[in-house]
This record gives sequence, structure tokens and C-alpha cells, in this order.
Amino acid sequence: MPDHSTPISATAAAAAAASTPASGADRAPVSLAAAAGGGSLLFRQLFDADTGTFTYLLADVGSRQGVLIDPVFEQHSRDLSLIQELGIALVASLDTHAHADHVTGSWLMHDATGCAIALAAAAGAENVTLPLQHGDRVAFGERHLEVRSTPGHTNGCLSFVLDDRSMAFTGDALLVRGCGRCDFQQGDPHTLWRSITEQLLSLPESCLLYPGHDYTGRLVTSVAEEQAFNARLGGAASERDFVGFMENMKLPHPKQIAVALPGNLRSGKPRQPLPRPSWAPVSRSYAGLPELSAAWLAEHHQAVTILDVRSREELEGPDGYIGGSQAIPLPELEQRLAEIPGDRPVVVVCHSGSRSALATQQLLKAGWSQVANLRGGLSRWADEGYPLARATRH
Ligand SMILES: [Fe+2]
Repeated sequence: MPDHSTPISATAAAAAAASTPASGADRAPVSLAAAAGGGSLLFRQLFDADTGTFTYLLADVGSRQGVLIDPVFEQHSRDLSLIQELGIALVASLDTHAHADHVTGSWLMHDATGCAIALAAAAGAENVTLPLQHGDRVAFGERHLEVRSTPGHTNGCLSFVLDDRSMAFTGDALLVRGCGRCDFQQGDPHTLWRSITEQLLSLPESCLLYPGHDYTGRLVTSVAEEQAFNARLGGAASERDFVGFMENMKLPHPKQIAVALPGNLRSGKPRQPLPRPSWAPVSRSYAGLPELSAAWLAEHHQAVTILDVRSREELEGPDGYIGGSQAIPLPELEQRLAEIPGDRPVVVVCHSGSRSALATQQLLKAGWSQVANLRGGLSRWADEGYPLARATRH
């Protein structure tokens, strides 16, 4: 296999994206060092419950550059909002292989942030901007991932090893106490045995191994544990034992393969453009709420109902209110839903955006589809210089 010793970071597009952290203009960047728990590397493990898939976010605190591993198409808005809230400049979205059980979110992430789409060149997928081979390095700021070819589950499987060999992301090559199946997608148990023993279990004993999936709540393992306890290849198991096990698993055909594989061979690019909310550029926070910025509301306030859910005292107090807004205090909202006009979108506001978040959820539950929370509430609205009316004092 070729040994590419020069670090590759990203395409020009990704490099351009990397110079601009994905923080929205109306978001104050959070301290990434604090979010990273005081260390120099931010690490998040995310989970898609429908497919048991793990997605990993890593970022170099100093430069705010990051990489995302194995994103799930349906979780795109969750992952993007986390990246934006943390102000991470995403260099690349990497897939460990062309998955058969879910569609990758890589193309959507590329479309949203300009990051590179990285996958094994051997997978032969379209839209890949950073084709990877054994020995490549994917740099993000001062850190990098080393690319190791670990075929056997598919012929394009890669594992990503962090520069200091403290963590490795093994995709489906090695799972916690198990491994990926070898009975389709050019799988081969002899090849997988070599990949696992030569490329993964040869890492330091203390290297933490993060799998592509788990269905029973196991999040992470280590080289030492898998050497000792992996049911298929740990302890005294030989290659013959492993192959005998893998060839007799008799697993059902994966349900999603007919949809997932063609989708992944386009790097998750949808066949049709995705419908976007037509009434406003609503974004979804990591908390899961539809949100709009003060700048958008200031420009479009006449086209929406602005619903203010603060108390009467606050409305009449020194903070003021947005002219033309409708006032229903949060404790009365459920009883007074019928008072809200049903023929236009609703933007919910309060002092900081927290009570209005709850009100937004109540409206969504009651069947409103065109509803969003004002991000940062009236406090951010005022900080950004937008006007507030004040009750006349008698
Ligand atoms: Fe897989």
C-alpha cells in the first residue's frame, strides 16, 4: 500500500471553510477550551438510536478546526447545530466505509459548511472530495488522524487513529466485543482478521477504541479489553477459529441496504433537493428547537405573529416589548391557543429565549408547523440594536 507521509488537510473549499468557524453571525462563540473540559482536544460521541450508529466530533481547541466521523443523514441538523454552537470550522466529514444500514450525512455537511467529503478511494463513491488511502493523514489544526486501511467488512473500510494513539475510530471493522459481518459488500473474514490483528490490536493497549455501532449501550472499549475478551478473536482464538465463527453467523440481510448503499455511493447527496421551510430560514438548535435570528425577525416582523409569553409586569416594565406583538403569558398559553391567528407563522419571544422555547414546544405539540423561537430572546434583540416599545406610564 502507498505510504503518503505528507499530511493532507483538505480541499481548497474546505480550507476556505476552515478559516471561518461555523458560528452564526448572531451567536457569541462559546469557549471551546471550556467545552473541551479544559483540554486541548474537544471530543463528542453522538448516537443515532434508529440505526445504533455513533458519530464522532473532534476539534483542536487552539484553531477551532474539527472533523466529523460517520455522520447520519437524518441527524444532520443535530450535528450541524452542535458544530455551529461550538463555533467549529469543520475541515472534513469522514466516513469509515460505505455503510449498508444508514445513509451518510457527509454531503449535507459539505453543503452546509464547505467541509471536505472524505472516504476511502477504494469505495469508488461519487462526490468524494478527499479520497483516502492507507497512510494518509487528515489534519485539523495542530492535530491529525492517521488513516489505516482495515478491509474485511467491506473492501473500503478505514480506521482513523488519533495522532497520539490514544483513540481510534474503527468503524465496523472492530466493534465492542465483536466485529462487522463479512458476508456481503466484498467482505472476507481472512482479510478482516489481518486488519484487526495487524492494524488495530497492534495499537498501544491503552488506546481507546470507538466503534461505528453498538446496539446494547456499549460506547467504547480498549485494545487491552478486546485482546482479552473479544468473543470472536480475543484470548486464544486463531484465524481459523475466527473464520469459522464468521462463516456460520447466518445473519439476515440488512433491511436498509437497498436504500443505504446507493445513497452512500453518492456520499449522501439526495436525488432531489431537500425541501426547506418555505416561510423562513429556520435553524434547529442542538436542543432541538426551531429558531430564527433577531435580524430575520426585524426584517419580516409584519409577516408573522410575534407572540410574547412574558408576564404582564415584564411587558409593562422597563424592558419594553416589540411593537405589534401579541401577549399571552406562558402559564395561560395552553388555554388561550385559539387567540393566536392560524393564518400566519408565529415567532415566540421572551426575555432570554428560554420560556419562549417551552412555548414553541407547546405550539408544535398543538399542531402549529410554522413556528420558531427568537434566538437569544428580547435581550439579544435589544443588544443588536432593534427597537422596543415601552408601555406609557400614567
Ligand atoms: Fe457497515
